[in-house]
Amino acid sequence: MADTAMIVAALLALAPVAAASGITPERQAQLEHMVVQDCGSCHGLTMKGGLGRPITPEALSAHDPRTLAAIILDGLPGTAMPPWRPLLTEAEALWIADYLKKEKAQ
Ligand code: HEC
Repeated sequence: MADTAMIVAALLALAPVAAASGITPERQAQLEHMVVQDCGSCHGLTMKGGLGRPITPEALSAHDPRTLAAIILDGLPGTAMPPWRPLLTEAEALWIADYLKKEKAQ
């Protein structure tokens, strides 16, 4: 019994932090790049707005991450905000939502 608990504890300690979201550090770097390059082309390189509204942590404070992930995946019909579902998984959209809410690149 105690042995099993120790093995489990050891395995958990070895798991990289990123495993919590299931997104590898490499993919996180790609997503970060995408936010600046692709989202930034409309929302501004510092997310303070352009064609699209500001998507800074302050501007998004009223939205919870799941709502934001849904907007990112499906876009906002009738506006220039496109759906990103072809490029992102739900976990990745949620990662971007969390990232925007604690965005440090501004
Ligand atoms: C082609 C331009 C364009 C691109 C590229 C784009 N957006 Fe948007 N986005 C918009 C516009 C325009 C709106 C505002 C729509 C409206 O009038 O409500 C918007 C709205 C949003 C909103 C809702 C903001 C709010 O206050 O409700 C979020 C969140 C968002 N975009 C995130 C993203 C993310 C993340 C990306 C990159 C994966 C992205 N957008 C890429 C144009 C774009």
